[in-house]
Amino acid sequence: MSTPVMQSRESKTFDIEWVRGQFPSLKLQVNGQTPAFLDGPAGTQVPKQVMDAVQNYFLTANANTCGAFLTSRRTDEMIWAARAAMADLFNCDAANVVFGQNMTTITFALARAIGRELKPGDEIVVTTLDHDANVAPWRALEEKGVVIRQADIREEDCTLDLEDLKRKITAKTRVVAVGYASNMVGTINPVAEITKLAHAAGALMFIDAVHYAPHGLIDVKALDCDFLICSPYKFFGPHMGTLYGKREHLEKFKPYKVRPAADTPPDCWETGTQVQELIAGIGAAVDYIAQVGRHCDATVKSRREGLQAAYRATVPYERTLMSKLLEGLQSIPGAKVYGITDPKRFEERSATVSLRIGEHNPTEIAKFLGDRGIFTWDGNFYALNLSERLGVQQKGGVLRIGMVHYNTMEEVERVLAGLREFAAAN
Ligand SMILES: Cc1ncc(COP(=O)(O)O)c(C=O)c1O
Repeated sequence: MSTPVMQSRESKTFDIEWVRGQFPSLKLQVNGQTPAFLDGPAGTQVPKQVMDAVQNYFLTANANTCGAFLTSRRTDEMIWAARAAMADLFNCDAANVVFGQNMTTITFALARAIGRELKPGDEIVVTTLDHDANVAPWRALEEKGVVIRQADIREEDCTLDLEDLKRKITAKTRVVAVGYASNMVGTINPVAEITKLAHAAGALMFIDAVHYAPHGLIDVKALDCDFLICSPYKFFGPHMGTLYGKREHLEKFKPYKVRPAADTPPDCWETGTQVQELIAGIGAAVDYIAQVGRHCDATVKSRREGLQAAYRATVPYERTLMSKLLEGLQSIPGAKVYGITDPKRFEERSATVSLRIGEHNPTEIAKFLGDRGIFTWDGNFYALNLSERLGVQQKGGVLRIGMVHYNTMEEVERVLAGLREFAAAN
């Protein structure tokens, strides 16, 4: 089974000044210093055009849907424009895009709908590497007699144990639920190959791309997955979730819904009134990423090409930040990094780095850095299976340093200096 390859085609010098200029919050001052936002995996900062789109919705289109008047029609148009934007991000048709409160809520609803078709003894495969939002909604089906099988990891590099995964997929498997990338250790899974394994067994493939979306180009057509889900607040948009589903599945599975609501997809999957102002922001977030692509490559024509060009530029840029961080961590006394550290394998991971320093509680380190204007995360980030498997759950988990394309080399140097200072003082 081959390993996944992120886009790595040569791009022009990455214009980090221009990028940072799009994000007003990066200029925030805390105690006289500019924060280093290294908390991206928990939610990224938002460019001005996303804020403007939300405000513009309230100013010009605020109404409920499907009414016979201007602002309602504008709302309907805006929602379909946002679906079209997400369709470009997923590489699918707009009718295959479902909006929802967040990934967790959508996944619970989808699992429940799929569960209606399952019988006792049917199996679902989840993994030790995944966020609990791609575990608990499937485990909830145990109430119906569904059997959950969990594929393990290889502890030494925090990658999926593919042999174990293959053993866990059987003729009884109905769904394989795997993350595209780990929000704790950054590992990128070979989801295209896993989709083939799932399909060969007659199972559906569900991909949690929440962590992957800000770090790599998604192409549901190439992956041939049945469902793929991500959360715009992780890729420079507002706090919501979005699902891609193959048309036949969105039609076949029946979501729990109120009777007067539409019976046809995608609407039937969108329970109640949506956060319409934020849907406006989702469209703008996708447009922002495409604009990064246009800024890097003037030959770009369509939005999808803009997205492709953006990731061609941001992937190698993020990798230089990650290389610098991982190299610097080697000289910090007591630092232990979890996940892939071999530079030759960096295409198998995103720029999300988790570590511990000796027996120090990661909250202590995050606080130390936070007091110095360096924003990182500590804990298990809801990747509970992984935190337990690595034996860190009882010890406060890990410290997570997450980099996205608006972070800088200077910020990496700042966090390394902060960690050096912490290690020397404690
Ligand atoms: C990999 C991954 N999956 C799922 C989730 C849950 O997403 P949401 O907050 O949209 O429910 C997260 C959130 O951190 C995540 O990182």
